[in-house]
Amino acid sequence: MAIRRITTHKIQQMKRRGEPIPMVTAYDYTAARIVDASGIPMILVGDSMGHVVLGHDSTIPVTVDDIVSASAAVVRGATKPLIVADMPFLSYQIDAETALRNAARLIQEGGAQAVKLEGGKTVAPIVRRLADAGLAVMGHIGLTPQHVNQLGGYRVQGKTESTANKVLEDALALQEAGAFAIVLELIPVELAKKITETLDIPTIGIGAGVHCDGQVQVFHDMLGLDPDFRPRHSGKYADLAPIIEDALQRYGDDVREGTFPTDAQSFFSDESRVRESSTTNE
Ligand code: KIV
Repeated sequence: MAIRRITTHKIQQMKRRGEPIPMVTAYDYTAARIVDASGIPMILVGDSMGHVVLGHDSTIPVTVDDIVSASAAVVRGATKPLIVADMPFLSYQIDAETALRNAARLIQEGGAQAVKLEGGKTVAPIVRRLADAGLAVMGHIGLTPQHVNQLGGYRVQGKTESTANKVLEDALALQEAGAFAIVLELIPVELAKKITETLDIPTIGIGAGVHCDGQVQVFHDMLGLDPDFRPRHSGKYADLAPIIEDALQRYGDDVREGTFPTDAQSFFSDESRVRESSTTNE
């Protein structure tokens, strides 16, 4: 029997049942398979790939083509989670028709089940247009990394009463426009709690505290794949960079010393040599 993918309805039902919703990013087939096996119900093919995969210093250079090909790989690797594809910078802000065309590519070519876009009240008409066309849309407010050049850095948002009210109004506008869930990035715990209690749709926090309905983290951050960068909010679930570096160093040493490959890792015209060597050489 085919395994059915998690739906947006299931994600919304999780909020109603008070069941926390874990989410993580993935950008490739292999990582997606691992996320799938972990039981995490939702994957974000984030434009954070600009940082952690492509080595840019922001998400601005990421293109629709980048997200389409990453989404297609993730969809091939993860059969159960709901896959949300990020809409890159300027792929939705120009006008609603451009947004619809680009969102359609993420769904039709990328195979994602939903798209995510950044912004509040100002993008609500675009969310409405996409939702009316039958797309599942996730909002993203608080710190919106595509606005980094306006914001002047990656800082906590909504710390004053007036900016907090604005973030809450943005959340309500997105819900009203038909978003199925909203990412709350880098906002104070108290504000995230208030938004989560006010909205009917799930909030998915990143650096927004424990009261959100769910949490999202960047795969590379939480697994310690960059030895020089681990944001405070990501948690420290593994420290993989030194483990991988050590394995690669040992491999390099073995190649230089001629101890790799052994006969057991090689192929012979007479394969009985492998059987002999694997009993004597391991
Ligand atoms: O691109 C991304 O990974 C994101 C998360 C930070 C929410 O938008």
